[in-house]
Amino acid sequence: MSIASTPGWRKLREHRKSLGTTHLRELFDRERARGPAMTVEYDGVVVDYAKNLVTAETMDLLLALAADRDLAAGIEAMLSGYPINTTERRPALHTALRAPRDVSVLVDGRDVVPDVHAVLDRMREFAGSVRSGAWRGCTGKPIRTVVNIGIGGSDLGPAMAALALRECTPADLDVRFVSNVDGHAIKRTLRGLDPERTLFVVASKTFTTVETLTNARTARAWLSATLDDPHAVARHFVAVSTNAREVAEFGIDPANMFEFWDWVGGRYSLPSAIGLSLMIAIGPERFGELLVGARSMDEHFRSAPFSRNLPVLLGVLGVWYRGFFDAQTHAVLPYDERLGRLPAYLQQLDMESNGKSVTREGASPDVDTAPIVWGEPGTNGQHAFFQLLHQGTTIVPCDFIGVLEPAHSDLEHHDLLMANLFAQTEALAFGRFQDEVIAEGVPESQARHRTFTGNRPSTTILLPRLTPYTLGQLIALYEHKVFTQGWLWGINSFDQWGVELGKALANRIHDEIRADSADLGDHDSSTRALLQRYRQVRTI
Ligand code: F6P
Repeated sequence: MSIASTPGWRKLREHRKSLGTTHLRELFDRERARGPAMTVEYDGVVVDYAKNLVTAETMDLLLALAADRDLAAGIEAMLSGYPINTTERRPALHTALRAPRDVSVLVDGRDVVPDVHAVLDRMREFAGSVRSGAWRGCTGKPIRTVVNIGIGGSDLGPAMAALALRECTPADLDVRFVSNVDGHAIKRTLRGLDPERTLFVVASKTFTTVETLTNARTARAWLSATLDDPHAVARHFVAVSTNAREVAEFGIDPANMFEFWDWVGGRYSLPSAIGLSLMIAIGPERFGELLVGARSMDEHFRSAPFSRNLPVLLGVLGVWYRGFFDAQTHAVLPYDERLGRLPAYLQQLDMESNGKSVTREGASPDVDTAPIVWGEPGTNGQHAFFQLLHQGTTIVPCDFIGVLEPAHSDLEHHDLLMANLFAQTEALAFGRFQDEVIAEGVPESQARHRTFTGNRPSTTILLPRLTPYTLGQLIALYEHKVFTQGWLWGINSFDQWGVELGKALANRIHDEIRADSADLGDHDSSTRALLQRYRQVRTI
């Protein structure tokens, strides 16, 4: 049954009407202990959702909807390897990537956990040898720079995490990421590097992604231009892929390939071999901690009652805003410079998973699905787009993410950072009304401009520290939030057909650009004119 025609949705619609424009000021006045009552902590992760436009009844109704939509069965189906990715007829088993050795998870009757650990063991050995200098380049020098070549899920996860955990990377090891097919990107990445000490990790699930293969070919040419050695590619290139045939075709020794499986979606692949560059950066032990942190959140998702289940709570709140407030976007605001790439990572996770307008049954959903996810670290965002968050005409639910203890000892910086986080959530929620502004002595002519309506929702997520363990928890928290939403909306969160059309057209246009004589006749007049303009200046 489509979600909007369920009794649960109808009740929520009625409830939304009765809530009307009830202000957060009133809700906090009414419920003196609202803050603690709407804060849930699990294994050190704190989620305070009190500054959302909800009452206890709202939450009851949302959680009842989750129960009616059989979310518990959905969670079980995903975790136990049922092929919930129906269009691609496969499971979505990223959770098996962090299963301990003594657990078994069956895919087509075969336990995949031993395979997972066999690859992790190989990764550990390899990462250890690169870090220790035992792995040598073809001229006998140890590797000091690792370049991850990948895009989308084969880039964003390790790049985000390597930035977040940079304090764990030895000072003499440089781990870089290149993704864009734009030649400037690979040029800048290679600038100043010593080929004798550089290792390329070509990360691609399919090993057919044009951006990655183009960058990898350019890197291979750069290497070969200096190292005239038949062993250069074998010592300086490794691959992470599900596609051994294409890896061999590229010229990388399959012995230097780290495998993963088609039941790992690209955007969920950080804990798989796709994390190899990260493992080299932070070390096998710390990488293992990330897996354990993610596992902890998996277990919580599986077993906690919905009312105390962090991913479920975040998920239903998003469904509430998309369904009943016309909130088109969702801001992720990490108050931590180290989490600077988290919004980009979550964009793929959320928008590629749930940005769909077809249900699992092939019908049109009758409610809006994924929001546009965006964000920047605080406090930078405050001096850029927060004006709109506070006074714009559109509602933007925000996640404020803070880390209680920094990895530095400059308390002045951290106090200021955290003060800003707390202040922003307060300002958004409670605003400053016109009469208050006037009472403060603001001239009447300005009062309206300096008024804050408040009632702008936010959730605050606090981590005790930013470590591999807590980052693993945070990643799994959002993965399961996204799953909760997709399940409730009735969509398949694990395919991504929406990226295919653009790829196909780009291939065709690329051929046309290269074959100067190609007839551009069947393009529309806009594209034709753009192509002609490009051809006129294309001199290289
Ligand atoms: O085009 C989208 C996508 O397929 C993502 O889902 C994926 O993470 C990315 O491209 C990279 O794919 P691959 O790992 O196969 O190179």
